[in-house]
Amino acid sequence: MYDFAPDPALSKAELHGELLAAVDAITTGESDGIANMANVAALIWQYLPDLNWAGFYRVIGEELVLGPFCGKPACIRIGWGKGVCGTAAANAATQLVEDVHAFPGHIACDAASRSELVVPVSRDGQVVAVIDLDSPTQARFDQEDAAAVERLAAILSNRI
Ligand code: SME
Repeated sequence: MYDFAPDPALSKAELHGELLAAVDAITTGESDGIANMANVAALIWQYLPDLNWAGFYRVIGEELVLGPFCGKPACIRIGWGKGVCGTAAANAATQLVEDVHAFPGHIACDAASRSELVVPVSRDGQVVAVIDLDSPTQARFDQEDAAAVERLAAILSNRI
């Protein structure tokens, strides 16, 4: 059993630090990418408040395919360059979307989503997956969240 339990009194920076430490600890020495993505989705869900979806899309051929996640069942395949996830993958760039309704081509998997943060995971210069976080609160994510999830993506580069 793993017992990672975020302290509700922690500041946002401390929470991010603990999340990253937990992600590093749980994925160190494990070579199975699906197992690592599943545990990381669960950790993000546990550590970050106010989310309605947290998980992975994997780059397979010319599209993104749903990976391990927490939240409601979601769209399975996303075309390259489509939606927030496909845009993050195609541009190899984090997408911080304060209002999903204002993002042209946003794909609504859960009608509750109001804001979204998508961060690419790269290996050897290629995007291999994206981490997708959705919130029911508009402008839930800021640059500090983006920077933390980018650090998380760097940890996972060779572990998924
Ligand atoms: N909103 C995403 C689709 C994935 S769901 O949010 C889980 C997008 O526009 O790419």
